[in-house]
Amino acid sequence: MNTLRSTLMGAAVALLAVSCVGKISDAPSTPENPDGENCEAVSKNDEIRLALAPACQGCHLTGNKPFFASLTAFENGLVYNEKYVKRGDPGNSMLIQLLNGVAPGSYPQMPPGQPYNELVSSGRVTLTIAQVEDWIRNLPATPAQLEAPVAEEFSVRRLTAEEMIISLMDQLGLTLEDFVSTTDPNWRNRPYVANGGKFFIWPGDWAPGISGEYVSDSRSVERFEALGGGNSLLYRKRDVSFGPSAAQTLVQMSQAWCARAVDKKNNPAVLRYVTLTDTSKSNPDAVQKNLRSLYLRMLGQPPSDAEAQALYEQVYLPLEAQNTRLAWIGVCAALIRHPMWITY
Ligand code: HEC
Repeated sequence: MNTLRSTLMGAAVALLAVSCVGKISDAPSTPENPDGENCEAVSKNDEIRLALAPACQGCHLTGNKPFFASLTAFENGLVYNEKYVKRGDPGNSMLIQLLNGVAPGSYPQMPPGQPYNELVSSGRVTLTIAQVEDWIRNLPATPAQLEAPVAEEFSVRRLTAEEMIISLMDQLGLTLEDFVSTTDPNWRNRPYVANGGKFFIWPGDWAPGISGEYVSDSRSVERFEALGGGNSLLYRKRDVSFGPSAAQTLVQMSQAWCARAVDKKNNPAVLRYVTLTDTSKSNPDAVQKNLRSLYLRMLGQPPSDAEAQALYEQVYLPLEAQNTRLAWIGVCAALIRHPMWITY
């Protein structure tokens, strides 16, 4: 009995927490409020957000317009977005037009299909359109913190297997021809062998390759699935996590594909400022320059001095002791396994 009661209480608390719409305060954790969540508005904008939420959050918590995911999302995406709210000028604010069902564009009414005023008369929301207009008339200036990114709001996801293949081919200056014999005039009409040792990876539901007709090396598709890729022909969902099999496949792929890029003639993707005859002794400046430019190419931002040095001392130099080819393959592969490369 007691257990049931506390379970129900727990559920009620959980529901309350959900209706708070995201985390809005650093309220201390209490028995009634174990997550430290708090439904009290922290500002005028927050009051409006919480008051509109019952009418809007059903569709705007996630997706490409997640205005109601948090106060920051509300302020960044809606309140201080000139397209929707013109400070001091409710008449020209699309938000008001949306509530009145007269906005230009394909969605004149928010919520779609139900006049906002009806929600007010039915008591689903208590905030009237006149109150929203008042708020816009007296809207506080853009808070300074909106200018800076908020770490907690930052979210990344892993690259999908498709994205990995496409971006890696592009970054490494490789094409399909580097893996399969597309120059053979008959290549579309009969199975051909993807040369062993090239570590070809290809989605099972992309052409060429559908149903193994063209890609006779079934490992190409198996590796793709290990990398987390799906296969619509087999009703196989993509894996959105980044588990050990994806990591292991990426390690092998990065080494094999970087090797192909280094060995490919006239391919400046990896060896842009150096040749394999340049060493840290004979041409130290070129080695440094190439290392930094490769970092920028693969990760989209220049390395800090500390990162460039770590890459040079821990990856490049030990491998260069064997040969420069291995050293550049190693640097290239290390960058592909970098968290910044894997995530988006
Ligand atoms: C039933 C789902 C649903 C509800 C509820 C809903 N919206 Fe929307 N909203 C949409 C869809 C769908 C779009 C258009 C698709 C898109 O851009 O994502 C949209 C777009 C918008 C836009 C962008 C319009 C544009 O042309 O750029 C705003 C602003 C907006 N909604 C605000 C609100 C507000 C405020 C509420 C609550 C009063 C609300 N929405 C309630 C589904 C909904």
